[in-house]
Amino acid sequence: MTDIPAKKKRIFSGVQPSGILTLGNYIGALRNFVALQNSGEYDCIYPVMDLHALTVRQDPPTLRRRCLETMAVFIACGLDPEKNILFCQSHVPAHSELSWILSCFTYVGELQRMTQFKDKSQRHADNINAGLLTYPVLMAADILLYQTDLVPIGADQKQHLEIARDIAIRMNNVYGELFVVPDAYFGKTGTRVMSLTDPTRKMSKSDEPASYIAILDKPEDIRRKLRRAVTDSEGEVRYDRESKPGVTNLLDILSAMGGEDKEALVTRFAGKGYGALKDETADAVIAALTPVREKYDQVLADKAYLEGVLRSGAERAAVLAEKTLRKVHKKLGLAPYKL
Ligand code: TYM
Repeated sequence: MTDIPAKKKRIFSGVQPSGILTLGNYIGALRNFVALQNSGEYDCIYPVMDLHALTVRQDPPTLRRRCLETMAVFIACGLDPEKNILFCQSHVPAHSELSWILSCFTYVGELQRMTQFKDKSQRHADNINAGLLTYPVLMAADILLYQTDLVPIGADQKQHLEIARDIAIRMNNVYGELFVVPDAYFGKTGTRVMSLTDPTRKMSKSDEPASYIAILDKPEDIRRKLRRAVTDSEGEVRYDRESKPGVTNLLDILSAMGGEDKEALVTRFAGKGYGALKDETADAVIAALTPVREKYDQVLADKAYLEGVLRSGAERAAVLAEKTLRKVHKKLGLAPYKL
């Protein structure tokens, strides 16, 4: 009797093409995407989320360029287009179609309660568009469309994943087994990489450049930014998010990059100053990001290859997406159609 291989679990996650990707994106997301790919235990789907980027006004030629650039970062980080489905969200219209359907099962109140909505509407008070509010519905559509089991994300996306789960459960209760209810996947460390200039805030590309490390930063910039990272005046290396957020952030980054757990790091750095911690963190970050930067230039130079990756990824994604969309249409009572 031949063994039928067990169906692999499905992973889905993505990144917005909003320009600079940071060390936060790398540690909280991309590094885990690669580890999950390499485990061989999952079928992985990783798109560039360009529709989500539209909630903020974008310059069209720049956005167009950034989709390819972000895909080049994915590949440079180690994602293999042969092993995963890599594509661009807007190339598979089913994301938007399912989003509309899900929005009819989502309450305005629950969207208004989202931390990111409250935060973003404060920061973009001149452009509180409906997309900013319905953003988590599109994200739920992304995830549920592929019957996803696991979603590797940073801590800032946790609330969005919870709403995706709520919508799936709500619809399953009405229509039977419509969607797989997804779980979040968080890395062991680095689910929330903090700003280097204000370590009580998340590291984000929308803040000043000194506050973040870009994945494509040069080694000398990485070292300079880490040397200037805000710490405290105590001089003792201890792990305490409340009273020592700067040092704790450095320990988290070093632990995520070097694999040594934070307790071992605290013991090893006992009696040493913050300078030593900053230097070793810089060494570890530079060692991890240098090959990415070098490969990025090479990948981006081959536009035809990148476009081919996006095309074949979208074709494969569309087949899976269409399957779910048809099931949803059928269960909800939309009139049958033939293509
Ligand atoms: P985005 O593009 O803001 O970020 C991409 C991923 O990087 C993680 N991340 C961080 N992790 C740790 N520390 C940080 N400082 C940090 N900054 C960012 C994010 O948690 C995320 O995992 N809405 C999503 C994109 C998206 C998506 C999806 C993700 C759209 N649809 C479906 C998963 C599944 C976003 O804006 O991520």
